Amino acid sequence: MKLLRLSVRDWRNLPEVDVECDADFVVFWGDNAQGKTNLLEAVYGLATLKSFRTRKNRELVRWGADRALVKGRIHDGHVERELKLEVTHKSRSATIDGKPPRVLREYFDGIRAVLFAPEDVAIVRGAPDLRRAFVDRAAFTASSTFLEVAQLHRRLLDQKAALLRRFPADRVQLSIFDEQLAQAGAHLVLRRRRIVGELDERFGELHSRISGHGDSTMRYRSCLPAGDEVEPLAAAYLALLEQSRDGDIERGANRVGPQRDDLVLQLDEKSARNFASQGQARSVVLALKLSELLAARERGARPLFLLDDLSSELDRLRRGRLVELLSDLDLQCFVTTTDPSVVAAGTSADVRSYEVENGGVTG
Ligand SMILES: Nc1ncnc2c1ncn2[C@@H]1O[C@H](COP(=O)(O)OP(=O)(O)OP(=O)(O)O)[C@@H](O)[C@H]1O
Ligand SMILES: [Mg+2]
Repeated sequence: MKLLRLSVRDWRNLPEVDVECDADFVVFWGDNAQGKTNLLEAVYGLATLKSFRTRKNRELVRWGADRALVKGRIHDGHVERELKLEVTHKSRSATIDGKPPRVLREYFDGIRAVLFAPEDVAIVRGAPDLRRAFVDRAAFTASSTFLEVAQLHRRLLDQKAALLRRFPADRVQLSIFDEQLAQAGAHLVLRRRRIVGELDERFGELHSRISGHGDSTMRYRSCLPAGDEVEPLAAAYLALLEQSRDGDIERGANRVGPQRDDLVLQLDEKSARNFASQGQARSVVLALKLSELLAARERGARPLFLLDDLSSELDRLRRGRLVELLSDLDLQCFVTTTDPSVVAAGTSADVRSYEVENGGVTG
């Protein structure tokens, strides 16, 4: 998959940007606060219909404008399509070749992206919800059908939470919800385990290529027992839900389930969450994100790789190794940096560089 051309209108501080991207590396370079991350965010927005920095539409629209547009010409190996995201203060909408997709999945089947941004080190050192979000994102990147699995579980959890807030909650209704929740949760855990297995196959090697050493592993830690069949997992989950029912009613909250699971990351058999240095955490997250990309590729998707702030993220040696690794992986990579020599020095691949200055782009 390749993004051939990108057009941005009134997105953040970018009034009007048009860039040709037909290259393996597209570099947006320039001083601080010029619009580099905004441009990367526009590519991410085109691919995911979300921002990685805000949930608020209003923040994405240039101050004083009433709508932002991001358009991309995408070649997926067979056909070229034009994808478009339009954001107003109150809405977001997407089209494929000018038409709204029948279901969102149709849109996401046309474009996928994996992002690495400086704040992603929190995946290693932060709370479990960030690691679960990473696992769910990776499962989605590998297969867009994951979206429905995750959404069903989330919806049932929210509905059950609403029931529990009314005291005392209705036990008959709760038991009906729990049956459904147990099924949905079992499917969710299976999908998460499967993707974590696929990520783990690549993670160790990618991590040692970036960091230069180390034995790194990952494991999905669940409240459910081991196993790869739905029914026994659903039965185990239901038993847990029944056990905790009295306490849940008492506290008005749902306390057990895969919404509490975690991804355990280890470096040399020690918890990365507790012991990784800042730089080690960055290398781990980069390896996670590249594992996500390669796992998706195994299923036939070819996500773009978006790398925000390459210059500040790693020391010179690790940066060099990363750029070399990215060139070996045969992907299209969008990079922002304050130092444009970073990419050019490390690769013989095809590079297009654009200077970003005060919301404008020259290249
Ligand atoms: N909705 C908006 N309208 C206009 N300008 C905005 C909007 N949102 C953010 N900005 C401005 O965009 C500017 C550039 O931000 P961006 O994060 O892209 O910088 P950058 O080039 O990545 O800088 P750095 O090297 O520091 O990461 C910021 O100064 C910010 O004030
Ligand atoms: Mg930036």
